[in-house]
Amino acid sequence: MANPDIQAGFNYHNATKHSYRSVRTNTHFLDWANQPLPFKIYPRLDLIPLPREFREIGVPALSTIAHVAQRDISIPSLQTLSELLYFSAGVTRRRTFPGGEIYFRAAACTGALYEIELYFACGPLADLEPGLYHYAAGEFGLRRLRAGDFRGALVEATGGESSIAHAHLIVICTGTYWRNAWKYQARTYRHFGWDNGTILANLLAMSNALEWPAKVMCGFVDSDVNRLLDLDTEREVAFSLVSIGRVEDLPSAPPAEILLLRLETVPLSKREVDYPAMRIMHAASSLLTPEDVALWRGSTLVVSPVRAVGELLHLKPLGDTALPPDSTEQVILCRGSTRRFAREPISFVELSTILDRSTRGVPADFLNLFGAQVNDLYLIVNAVEGLPSGAYFFNRERRGLELLKEGDFRREAGYLGLDQELPADTSVAVFFLADLDTIFQRFGSRGYRAVQLEAGIIGGKLYLAAYALHLGTSGLTFYDDDVVTFFSPHAEGKSAVFLVALGKSAKRT
Ligand SMILES: Cc1cc2nc3c(=O)[nH]c(=O)nc-3n(C[C@H](O)[C@H](O)[C@H](O)COP(=O)(O)O)c2cc1C
Repeated sequence: MANPDIQAGFNYHNATKHSYRSVRTNTHFLDWANQPLPFKIYPRLDLIPLPREFREIGVPALSTIAHVAQRDISIPSLQTLSELLYFSAGVTRRRTFPGGEIYFRAAACTGALYEIELYFACGPLADLEPGLYHYAAGEFGLRRLRAGDFRGALVEATGGESSIAHAHLIVICTGTYWRNAWKYQARTYRHFGWDNGTILANLLAMSNALEWPAKVMCGFVDSDVNRLLDLDTEREVAFSLVSIGRVEDLPSAPPAEILLLRLETVPLSKREVDYPAMRIMHAASSLLTPEDVALWRGSTLVVSPVRAVGELLHLKPLGDTALPPDSTEQVILCRGSTRRFAREPISFVELSTILDRSTRGVPADFLNLFGAQVNDLYLIVNAVEGLPSGAYFFNRERRGLELLKEGDFRREAGYLGLDQELPADTSVAVFFLADLDTIFQRFGSRGYRAVQLEAGIIGGKLYLAAYALHLGTSGLTFYDDDVVTFFSPHAEGKSAVFLVALGKSAKRT
């Protein structure tokens, strides 16, 4: 195995669990005077402004989240790049409050702290020089970090992955520890996966709308990608790559040496607090050579069929012709986390459509079959017409729900979701659980990155599916072990990974 330190993954996971007691004994407080800047800014590089006039591409969101484009029909231009980036991670809303202003983005993010940065490497595009660029979300522009075609360096760093080798451009997503750890301390490393994932749900949907094939990469030589971006890895690290588009020609070989840039960036805060557990986890899950990467990728998960445990209630999703026409861009613009749910039911067709469309598949290097998943979905159904309230397991292969226990579990849902009202009021709380032992045996500790990232991507798709149906959603956090206990014996041995509430917003969405 390429990154054999499995124990490191368990150590980090166990050390960052929330429990009723851990939350109440934590003395951490928010130091508002030291709040980090939500954007990375290179003050000495010129800004290349991106066009702000967007076309209406108009492909329904419920279609783009469910498929991957098969054909590549256009070379990216500043216009289409601008659409891809804006609807993935752009500033879509601003809200002023007494202490300042929050710049809300296209994708949901824990605490609205936006610790994920986007960069891309491209060859010659319609109206952009080859280069390595940073997406300056706050100023809506690009800054070129390196001139020239550096895709070849990423081909090498991914052990020659074919979709990277044939991509128009390769998006690189990084996580900045302090920007999120200011509030969430060492749990931030989980948030890297969640918050990167919600961005990728949008990015995959938009590249589908723009008809560019796309694939998510978790496997790459960390030090090579970090060096290409010239990151200070004590503070910021590459987390995922995405190939966009497909061209026949291979990029030229990378330069023999990637020179350091030492580019100045604006400090995030007056001072930063280091949480070493995250850096230890990152180092233990790092891949060191292209051979390690190829070996790692060879171990993609072979999904064994899930054994049915109870009567199967087949999903009844809307068919292709009955889908609401709301386009991907419209849905992203009206998306926002629901702050209060009405205690009203949604229909079984709505729930079925959301689950069906969000779980049709993630194109990723850690999943050898489109449609495979490393996370399992468990539901607390509070109010769905025609479905008894209770706890359910979503049998993905058989596209149905299995009742684990019937009853009114609103109070339990509220408790499990960190004693918040949202999961108690909502119609359905969707919990993601994963068998970390199996995942670590196959992927080493890097499986932890994959499992959190996949949860974020599917969670992001749940957001888009719900808003396409004019319903509400919110990501939530949870008491780890209590979630597993609640869904046991079915969930015995698994770990809690992610939580999303689905329902009707108390105000219209
Ligand atoms: C993974 C995840 C977990 C979240 N957890 C909570 C939570 O526990 N409680 C809450 O009120 N909001 C939670 N949120 C919602 C965020 O606070 C929200 O996404 C952020 O403020 C940005 O706002 P927006 O989603 O409306 O754009 C979560 C969001 C995500 C993506």
